[in-house]
Amino acid sequence: MDHVLGLKCVLCGAEYDVGEVLYVCPKHGDEGILDVVYDYELIGRRLTKERLADDPTNSIWRYADLLPIADPGLIPPLQVGWTPLYRAERLEKRLGPSSLGRRTKGLKHLWVKDDGREPTASYKDRASAVGVVKALELGRDVMTCASTGNAASSLAGLAASVGLTTYIFVPQTAPQAKVAQLLIFGANVIMVKGTYDQAFDLCLEASKEYGWYSRNTAYNPYLSEGKKTAALEICEQLRWEAPDRIFVSVGDGCIIGGLWKGLKDLCTLGFIGKMPKLMGVQAEGAAPLVRAWREGTEEIEPVVLNTLADSIAVGVPRDRIKALRAVRQTGGEYVAVSDEEILDAMRVLARGAAVFAEPAGAAGFAGLVKLVQEGRIDPEERIVVVVTGNGLKDVASAIKATGKPHLIEPTMEDLRQLMGQYPIPNNR
Ligand SMILES: Cc1ncc(COP(=O)(O)O)c(C=O)c1O
Ligand SMILES: [Zn+2]
Repeated sequence: MDHVLGLKCVLCGAEYDVGEVLYVCPKHGDEGILDVVYDYELIGRRLTKERLADDPTNSIWRYADLLPIADPGLIPPLQVGWTPLYRAERLEKRLGPSSLGRRTKGLKHLWVKDDGREPTASYKDRASAVGVVKALELGRDVMTCASTGNAASSLAGLAASVGLTTYIFVPQTAPQAKVAQLLIFGANVIMVKGTYDQAFDLCLEASKEYGWYSRNTAYNPYLSEGKKTAALEICEQLRWEAPDRIFVSVGDGCIIGGLWKGLKDLCTLGFIGKMPKLMGVQAEGAAPLVRAWREGTEEIEPVVLNTLADSIAVGVPRDRIKALRAVRQTGGEYVAVSDEEILDAMRVLARGAAVFAEPAGAAGFAGLVKLVQEGRIDPEERIVVVVTGNGLKDVASAIKATGKPHLIEPTMEDLRQLMGQYPIPNNR
């Protein structure tokens, strides 16, 4: 790993050699998240746009030179990353004045990055893939994490692909599909009668007591590096012309912090000429970062959680520092959306771009719709929305967004009666 210079604490700036610390800054305990520091001069000599253009690798590993892995032989066999970036022309029109009112002038350049297409159907696979390689490099055979659901199912899947054992902590409220993924991949599932925040604390203690390798967000410094890969892909897929804004949903803040890191990497290497504004979207019922951003602080006041977007139902965002700096330092914003706006966004995204997102997966798009409605997006802006999780993860919410299908007797009489009711008024 000659391209990795060390690990730097985001709180105090102390630097450590890679072999010196496993997870966090010893001076700050669990709060001292470390950032991986690279030798960009060396990387710049190895990684060029031309070389990437010739690289047939269809996964995050096309950026191995920018990832903290020592042994490419340990890369798991699942295809992680290089997900589609769809140009969403029908959505561009939908967000025009005819459907949203006169304050919007619509959009001309909108893309949707569909990370519901990852092997376990969420963005978290990007981080789990790197986490699994690190566990193997360290010779560990047991991993653990706490998760609202997706990091868990993702770790379970990636671990199954290389034969690692997992102990996974989830809150009792995790949707059934995500729990089913854990069980089928053979994880040891520990369901906690409490919130995600409580599951997280318990998992940290357990990993210390039993010596399991931790895939916890904002604790293991290598996970953010996996999460940055979507930013690398977006810019490459846009032929290195960075977008003006990227909208993404935020819970712990790891994804947005990772995107920021990826964009900074590309700026440092001279691959892109400007930083896109990072637009963090939270659910109104779980929006501690929106509040902290508005108040200009990095301190979080824990909130009482109340949202159906389970993946971003986080009261104490573990990666808050990076998450807030990502938005502040790129001139972005934090936006809160209601559950109703999220359900609307799920429908519009599915009907206008055929991308089926779980609630947290659609929250980024809901944030964009809200700002467009408020007339705050210039139609010339080039905008990317990241969909972070697949809708099949939580079909109950999808049905909530749409209503149930019609049920009729198998007769033409019943069918004719029903046909009289079409088109269905809410079919938009
Ligand atoms: C679908 C989905 N979207 C968004 C997020 C938020 O990511 P982060 O907690 O890194 O902010 C998660 C995290 O679990 C997720 O599963
Ligand atoms: Zn420190």
